[in-house]
Amino acid sequence: MIPVITLDGPGGSGKGTVSKLVAEKLGFHILDSGAIYRVLAYAALKRNVDFTDEEALCELARSLNLSFVPMEEGVSAVLDGVDISKEIRNETTGSNASRVAALPRVRAALLDRQRAFQQAPGLVGDGRDLGTVVFPEATLKIFLDASAEERARRRYLQQKSNGNPQPLEQILEEIRIRDDRDRNRPVAPLKPADDAVTVDTTSMTVPEVVSRILELAAGRNIAPL
Ligand code: DC
Repeated sequence: MIPVITLDGPGGSGKGTVSKLVAEKLGFHILDSGAIYRVLAYAALKRNVDFTDEEALCELARSLNLSFVPMEEGVSAVLDGVDISKEIRNETTGSNASRVAALPRVRAALLDRQRAFQQAPGLVGDGRDLGTVVFPEATLKIFLDASAEERARRRYLQQKSNGNPQPLEQILEEIRIRDDRDRNRPVAPLKPADDAVTVDTTSMTVPEVVSRILELAAGRNIAPL
């Protein structure tokens, strides 16, 4: 059985940063499942597919010519040969991703694509339902959380370092709307798996969170090669 570590949690809980570092330490592959929903939302907008047209979105989800290419600065999302990593990172695409992700058949259409990432020597995946739906047999399931205020603050600092900050109040409002939609959708809502370990990162540094996860992984016989 190829080991899988899942990191689920709300936006801004640090999943992306932490899963990248944990995967690096362990020499594992990485799955950023949110990027798949973001690419789908981006492609739908480009092709004028309505966000309420579930059938057309499913068709698009199945046919996406998408690959993730490891680069020095991280993994790039490449759609039809074009690197769209930057384009999918804004709040509008995040919010559109959350809308398409609320559609049950769209989620089902993306399952195999996500499961194909389980390759030797192992996988670290981050998202909302990796421990509950995509990899129910995962070796270690983590639920990363942090207060909405702290997550908004982190987003703000991230945007500021990219030279394009939105007002903090606006980020907090968007985080609340997206949380609410992700947590309350009927299919695969954001919630910890019954056997997940919750790590509240509100007052933890990134290295502290990474060591905590590596400690938990070691407890399941997953150790750096
Ligand atoms: O993690 P992220 O912010 O890149 O995710 C964007 C949106 O995609 C998020 O608001 C909800 C959705 N998503 C999901 O429903 N299931 C996942 N496994 C990952 C993301």
